[in-house]
Amino acid sequence: KEVKLWGGRFEESVTDAVEKFTESISFDKALYKQDIMGSKAHASMLAKQGLMSDSDRDTIIKGLEEIERQIEAGEFVWRTDREDVHMNIEAALTDLVGEPAKKLHTARSRNDQVATDFRLWCRDAIDGIISRIKNLQIAMVELALQNEGLIVPGYTHLQRAQPVLLQHLLLAYVEQLERDAGRLLDCRARVNFCPLGACALAGTGLPIDRFMTSDALGFTAPMRNSIDAVSDRDFVLELLSANSITAVHLSRLGEEWVLWASEEFGFLTPSDKVSTGSSIMPQKKNPDPMELVRGKSARVIGDLVSLLVLCKGLPHAYNRDLQEDKEPVFDSVKAIVGMLEVSAEFAQNVSFNRERIQKALPAGHLDATTLADYLVKKGIPFRTSHDIVGRSVALCVSRNCELQDLSLDELNSLNPIFDKDVYEYLGVENSIKKFRSYGSTGSECVAGQLDYWIDKLSIS
Ligand code: ARG
Repeated sequence: KEVKLWGGRFEESVTDAVEKFTESISFDKALYKQDIMGSKAHASMLAKQGLMSDSDRDTIIKGLEEIERQIEAGEFVWRTDREDVHMNIEAALTDLVGEPAKKLHTARSRNDQVATDFRLWCRDAIDGIISRIKNLQIAMVELALQNEGLIVPGYTHLQRAQPVLLQHLLLAYVEQLERDAGRLLDCRARVNFCPLGACALAGTGLPIDRFMTSDALGFTAPMRNSIDAVSDRDFVLELLSANSITAVHLSRLGEEWVLWASEEFGFLTPSDKVSTGSSIMPQKKNPDPMELVRGKSARVIGDLVSLLVLCKGLPHAYNRDLQEDKEPVFDSVKAIVGMLEVSAEFAQNVSFNRERIQKALPAGHLDATTLADYLVKKGIPFRTSHDIVGRSVALCVSRNCELQDLSLDELNSLNPIFDKDVYEYLGVENSIKKFRSYGSTGSECVAGQLDYWIDKLSIS
């Protein structure tokens, strides 16, 4: 057996079970790029500070580049007995270039190394998620553009409420996604501080320059407190919180579209490209991608909860428990990226069924609130007009008709103030024309929202 990098004080080697249980190479090899980047910056700093010769630095950097090449070519052998990505790369470097490699770990610990690698990884992940959020926003805006003027029933409590433009509803998702991206950007600003040089927990007596490595790695600044730098994983908690909120938004979209694709609603038809069938029922065409978007939100939330529980009992500073932070983060990022990509593809492959929707619109008294507003415009206090319209609806229910089917005499029997112009307020088409408040479903207002997003997302 190879002597461990930390093997000096040990007389016996670890059991196979312990080696297998404590390894992280099986998953943290995903950090290889960041680890190599960090080591190159660290070696350059050590040379600049006189802690290593320029020629050792050059040897190390060349060796690290060769290792990166081997990893990417699939030639590199990851060894469980070398525990994690940091020791795999350092030991392989020693195998490759010999003595100079032994200087690389000067004024560095795996504790600050892993925190640095992970922050770099999260920074890239955030950028990748944000670009996918933007793609989904674009797909939603394009879907809105294809469905100009289409009125759909708006629901509260899943009961018919008021008519809304479909564009308005689709843009609601675009707004939510914008805040999701904003949360990730806020998180990114806090992720982007450099732990490198915090060493195990206390810093070092060697003359390192943490500002130099921080700059070289594109961080805003080195972290101020070395204990904090190696101890905390609030940056991943924040990333996973942001992902969870995005996942909840996408899950609601999934739920809505699955519902709308049902025979009962029939408002939406996904194309074959985004549907799957049944192994037993030949007629089936299921909206599985959006069901799985809804389903995968569970794991994204679970990943956050795992990490919260992982961190809550840890004393300062580094604890090995923290090795358990990687998999939930990798899982959450993979899931959210997939959810965003598939939602965008789904949006590009659905059509809304104008006829079914139009047939559904007259039912449910969607114009009742507009009628109450009509009475307010005639000078009646809202609470009173609510009551008058409520009684008008009751009349409709007893006659099995809609508000616009009531005659002026019938309306006047409830209140004499109703006039002929009331019919300009009744029916879904008329009703929706009356909306004018900022942010409302009125067509001018929605057109303004659309213009805003077309410009903001640079849609041509
Ligand atoms: N693989 C470890 C992790 O992911 C690296 C740090 C280990 N440090 C230590 N002293 N055992 O957290």
